[in-house]
Amino acid sequence: MEDLVQIVESARADFAAAEQSAALEDAKARYLGKNGALTALMKGLGALPAEEKRTRGQQINRAKGEVEALLNARREAIANAAMEQKLASEAIDVTLPGRTLPMGGIHPVMRTWMRIEEIFRSIGFDVADGPEIESDWFSFTALNNPPNHPARSMQDTFYVDRCDGTGMQLPLRPHTSPMQVRYAKTHTPPIKVIAPGRTYRVDSDATHSPMFHQVEGLWVGDDISFTDLKGVYSDFLRRFFETDDLKVRFRPSYFPFTEPSVEVDMAFTSGPRKGKWLEISGAGEVHPNVIRNFGLDPEKYIGFAFGSGLERLTMLRYGIDDLRLFFEGDLRFLRQFN
Ligand code: FA5
Ligand code: MG
Repeated sequence: MEDLVQIVESARADFAAAEQSAALEDAKARYLGKNGALTALMKGLGALPAEEKRTRGQQINRAKGEVEALLNARREAIANAAMEQKLASEAIDVTLPGRTLPMGGIHPVMRTWMRIEEIFRSIGFDVADGPEIESDWFSFTALNNPPNHPARSMQDTFYVDRCDGTGMQLPLRPHTSPMQVRYAKTHTPPIKVIAPGRTYRVDSDATHSPMFHQVEGLWVGDDISFTDLKGVYSDFLRRFFETDDLKVRFRPSYFPFTEPSVEVDMAFTSGPRKGKWLEISGAGEVHPNVIRNFGLDPEKYIGFAFGSGLERLTMLRYGIDDLRLFFEGDLRFLRQFN
């Protein structure tokens, strides 16, 4: 009996000392295994007289039950501790900020483009798109340019080689005006369209970029006058700049494809150029020769056209003095618009 109490107490101490389940299973073998202490006592029962065998057997079995209960309790404790540790090491702090993808933003010139489309759509203009590699005819001839006009020369216009073995070249459109002819030839009056897009010129300084954006406007009907041009364009500027307080002037000018012609200037109201004028547009009453190239009778149809620089409008809106900032891709600059 004494020895059994000792075995149970010794097992209790051994099990408690086992930190890992492998050590616990080793300890278990010392008591319940094939060569364990209790197993050995059981084996010894055979040598006892029958009466003593019974009581001794019961005592050993009780001790064995106690050791097993101790073992199971310790197993559970070790498993719980392991789980706790695993949970602690794999803990997720749900209050940490997530790893978000940085959001892109809309480029200020694109925002100008979008706002222009929205304003002109709201007064019934269609929006058209066309090729940036143009033909000489649409770029110049159809627009009433004389054969020796400087815009045709290599100094102003970029040319790309045709890849058809002819050795000929095609202009990158230097303005969006070819879209007047492309659109008018395929639509019937009244024609009311804007055509925003990229344009190219051999030009580079604070107000000129080799690639820039224009928006062409064309309204042709049977009684669309220069007054309509002034009204529609001034109203567009008031809506675009969200103020009636604008300094705008229509200055007489010359284009082969309009008569009379103007250029439109606007004064900066903020930024380093505050108070200074900047040209934003060319415009005018569509020339009868161009109306004819639309496939229309100039005795019957009349209208106006304009071509505005999107970078210039954006410069004025935000008080920016150098349009090259739009193309440098400097996020410190671009982030200010988003
Ligand atoms: C034209 O391009 C004419 N096609 C405009 C026109 C259309 C007149 C319809 C009559 C009827 P101009 O060369 O002035 O005109 O250019 C128009 C506008 O484009 C300029 O006022 C300016 O705002 C912008 N622009 C011209 N060149 C550049 C450039 N290199 N960089 C940035 N903006 C430019
Ligand atoms: Mg001009």
